[in-house]
Amino acid sequence: MYRSGKIYIENALKEIKQIASILWKKGWAERNAGNISLLVDEDMGFSEFEEQASGKINISCPALAGKYIIISISGSRMRDLAKDPLNNLCLIKISADAKAYHLSYSGMFCSDGNPTSELSSHLAIYQKKIEENKPVKAIVHAHAREIIILSHKPEINNSDDFNKILWGSHPEAVVFLPDGAAFVPYKTPGSDEIATDTYNRIEGKSLAVWEGHGSLAFANTPMEAFDLIDIAAKASDIYLRCLSAGYEPKYLSEEEQQKLREL
Ligand code: 13P
Ligand code: ZN
Repeated sequence: MYRSGKIYIENALKEIKQIASILWKKGWAERNAGNISLLVDEDMGFSEFEEQASGKINISCPALAGKYIIISISGSRMRDLAKDPLNNLCLIKISADAKAYHLSYSGMFCSDGNPTSELSSHLAIYQKKIEENKPVKAIVHAHAREIIILSHKPEINNSDDFNKILWGSHPEAVVFLPDGAAFVPYKTPGSDEIATDTYNRIEGKSLAVWEGHGSLAFANTPMEAFDLIDIAAKASDIYLRCLSAGYEPKYLSEEEQQKLREL
């Protein structure tokens, strides 16, 4: 974990730049695909926060009242975010009743763009993790190709189906995703419906797979969140390449998985 205060923001911004560049290079961020956010509990030098515009929040997130979130701008490209984070991120403050957000025009984040179209999902995830007493500070959403392809497999209809393949195909997935992924059946991107369904399925999880669309990971830092998507993508890739080579992978047995869980 970072130290709090400005160091936290500075380090997190460095990570966000690095992740945005990796997502673009991996082909997981076509056009404006993907978004990143960072939950900031306290006012870390945002004292010059000036309310510029407001937006409505349609999902329930009372635990976020008064909190600040640094979040990518809707329509921004990861390849631009990697070069110029301050003009591709915005700062929002959640209102006291958590029914609206105020977009800042502070000295640091001076863009007049709106937060990502997936704002509802980001808010729902932060809310859920606070309710679980396992708060997270960062969310990364990417269109990781391998995970999307796997999510199209007709036999995968729920989290158990997905996690069987995830854990069976790659030891790292058992170690770093011991609770597996939440498989969320296809919903319209950017909708409150996808946010609510994600909220309902992520109990105990650090990764959500949006069927036919992409994945979101949530952790203490942006880099830790990215790593979870990367591991799930590697496991998906191994599985898919085995099938392409004409054979099923030699799945890790229950016993082999158990040994990894005990590590
Ligand atoms: P935004 O540009 O609004 O962040 O949308 C990208 C995306 O991936 C939607 O799911
Ligand atoms: Zn998306």
